[in-house]
Amino acid sequence: MTIAGLSPPLSFLRKQEKRGQESNAFYTNLMLKIKNLSIQIENKKIIKSLNLEIKLGEIHAIMGPNGSGKSSLAFTIAGHPSYLITKGEIVVDKVVINNLAPDERSRLGLFLAFQYPQAITGVSVFNFLRSIYNAHHIEKIPIHKFKLELNKYLKALDLSEAFLERYLNEGFSGGEKKKLEILQAMVIEPNYIILDETDSGLDIDALKTVAKSVSKLSEQTKAGILIITHYQRLLNYIKPDFVHILKQGKIVKSGDYKLAKELEKNGYEKY
Ligand SMILES: Nc1ncnc2c1ncn2[C@@H]1O[C@H](COP(=O)(O)OP(=O)(O)OP(=O)(O)O)[C@@H](O)[C@H]1O
Ligand SMILES: [Mg+2]
Repeated sequence: MTIAGLSPPLSFLRKQEKRGQESNAFYTNLMLKIKNLSIQIENKKIIKSLNLEIKLGEIHAIMGPNGSGKSSLAFTIAGHPSYLITKGEIVVDKVVINNLAPDERSRLGLFLAFQYPQAITGVSVFNFLRSIYNAHHIEKIPIHKFKLELNKYLKALDLSEAFLERYLNEGFSGGEKKKLEILQAMVIEPNYIILDETDSGLDIDALKTVAKSVSKLSEQTKAGILIITHYQRLLNYIKPDFVHILKQGKIVKSGDYKLAKELEKNGYEKY
């Protein structure tokens, strides 16, 4: 499904912009905007009047206790049907996406890396990546070029070529699942990337590898990034511009990366 006039991904336009005039005002106004958003699931209020703006090139982190609504917020942005928006708007580059299907949101440049990725039997990683590439790019590339690109990404993520022949998430270790999420983001080059606890379950080397790849992706594509995490550890490798504390469905405090350091020391009690 595509939306007339909107299907060319902004990543494509942005690449053109990078070749030309860097400071085009059109691009500086692009953002993922969450306006006064309230979310409910099974009659339970989960997110309450939340406001957040993530501009291209910005890195935001959301931290907060278990059950505070972080994943619910991420799922709602991605278009999961279980979450009901009772108030407010989610806007991507001036388009209200409240009623768009997940694939339409994805074509507008949104990407969510799941906290618990699912297995899909019978689909190889390679075929999956090839099809998501084709769904997100106007310019088609020959298969050998695509393979060359993929090999670069695999190397950056410290994955072997054999990884491409495996079935999606089937028997993957926790670390491999998380790396596959990042591999997808590298292939799609989304404008807005939401990482829901991508760091959990990663050993220290994998954590550094993943963090480096995300930082590079943000530099290269100027994507706006929202990192959901429990640990300041990840933020040692990807320095956020803004840190927000979510508690009981509300942002109770926003600050810079120092806020994450303070949380690590003192916990959420005082908020
Ligand atoms: N599908 C669902 N059905 C019922 N309740 C749900 C559902 N999804 C979320 N909730 C409830 O919404 C609240 C927020 O959950 P959510 O998963 O968003 O929290 P979180 O901040 O991501 O927590 P964690 O840090 O443990 O991942 C919880 O009370 C949870 O039980
Ligand atoms: Mg969660």
